[in-house]
Amino acid sequence: MKLPKGLDGVVVDQTKISSTQNAVLTYAGYPIKELQNAPFEEVVFLLWHTRLPSADELKAFRKLLVSKMVLPDETIRLMTRIAKEPQHPMSILRTTVSLLGTTNDVERDDPPRILGKMLTAIAAIIRIRDDQPVLHANSDWGVVENFVYLFSGKRPTAERVAMFNTVMVLHADHEFNASTFTARVVASTKADYYSCLTAAVCALKGPLHGGANEKVFKMLETIRQTGQEPTVYVNDQMATGRKIMGFGHRIYKNGDPRATILREIARQIAHETDNDAYFALQEQIRDYMFEKTHLHPNVDYYTALIYHCFGLDKKTFTMMFAACRTAGWLAHITEQQAEGCLIRPSSEYVGQTNRHYRADKEEM
Ligand code: COA
Repeated sequence: MKLPKGLDGVVVDQTKISSTQNAVLTYAGYPIKELQNAPFEEVVFLLWHTRLPSADELKAFRKLLVSKMVLPDETIRLMTRIAKEPQHPMSILRTTVSLLGTTNDVERDDPPRILGKMLTAIAAIIRIRDDQPVLHANSDWGVVENFVYLFSGKRPTAERVAMFNTVMVLHADHEFNASTFTARVVASTKADYYSCLTAAVCALKGPLHGGANEKVFKMLETIRQTGQEPTVYVNDQMATGRKIMGFGHRIYKNGDPRATILREIARQIAHETDNDAYFALQEQIRDYMFEKTHLHPNVDYYTALIYHCFGLDKKTFTMMFAACRTAGWLAHITEQQAEGCLIRPSSEYVGQTNRHYRADKEEM
C-alpha cells in the first residue's frame, strides 16, 4: 500500500466554508479575487453563515464585533506578566489563548466574543512587549481600523485600513490547512473553542505553515546586511538542503492566488514607506526561484514586507496571521462540532512483529 505523504490529496471530510478546488480559493462559493476588497466583517459573516449579510445585518454585525474587542481586566493583568517573558510572541500567544479560556465569563463566549478577544489580545501582546499602554477600541470604527490602532497606537489612514483589510480577508480561511485541520481534530472530540484555538495556534507557529512569514523577512534582512547576491544566497541555502521560505505550496503548484494580490499591496506600501529596496530584492529572489525551481511565492512571502511596512517587528508577523485566521478557525470549529464525528484515523504499522516479552528478556 502506497500512503499519500502528509495526507497529500486525501479528502478527509466535507465543508461548506471554503474550497481550493482546481487551485481557486473560494469562501462559501465566492472567489477570493471578488472578495479582496469586501469589508473584513462581511467576510467573517460569510464564513460563519455561508451567505452574505444584508446591509442592516452587516452594520449590526460590525457593531457587535467591535463591541467585543475588549478583555477582562484580570486577563490584561495576567497577560502583562506573561507577555514580558523573553519567549517568542507565538509562544506568548499560545499561553494567552489558553488563558482566555480560563476567565470567569468564558461560559458566555461565542464566536463574536472570541474573535474580539483574540484580536485585542494579539494587539495587547505587542503593546505590552513594547512597554506601551493597552488601548481601547473605538465603537465608531470598524474591526480592521481598530485592530491596526490597537497594535500600532496610531489611527490608520483609510488607504492603510483598506490594505490591511485585504490582508485580513485573504488570510481569513483556507479550507483544511494544517492549523485548521488541527482545530477540527480537537473540535471533533467536542472540546471547547479555546482548546481548539490553542491547538491551532501551536500548528500555525511552525515555519512550514504560518511561521514562514517571519523567516522570509529574516532572509531579506540577511541578504541586505551581508550584501550577498540573492542568487548566491538561494544557491547556498538549497545546496545545504534548506528551503527558501515563502515559496512552494501543497495545493498551488502554479502560483498562490493570494500572493498575486499581496504582491501589489507590498509594492505600493513599500514605495510609500521607503522600503522599495526590500521589494526589489523580493522581485529578484522571486525571478531567480522561478528560473531555478519553478516554485512560486506563497501567501507568506509578501505579507512579510507588508507587516514590516506597518511598523511591526518580524517576531510578531505570525501573530498577525493568527489574528486573520481566527475567523476561519472559528467557522471550522463550529462546523465540526455541529456536523462532524470524532476524527480518529488509522495507521499502517511498520514496526517489528511477533516479539515475545519473556523470551526476549531471558535472552538479554
Ligand atoms: N524551497 C526549496 N525547495 C522547495 C521549497 C522551498 N520553499 N518548497 C518545496 N521545495 C521542493 C522540496 O524540497 C521538494 O523537492 P524534492 O521533490 O526534490 O524533495 C519539492 O519541492 C516538493 O516539496 P514538498 O516540501 O515535498 O511539498 P509539500 O507540498 O510537502 O510542501 C510546503 C509544501 C509549503 C511545506 C513547502 O513548499 C515549503 O516548505 N515551503 C517553505 C515554507 C513556507 O513558505 N511555508 C508557508 C506555506 S503557505
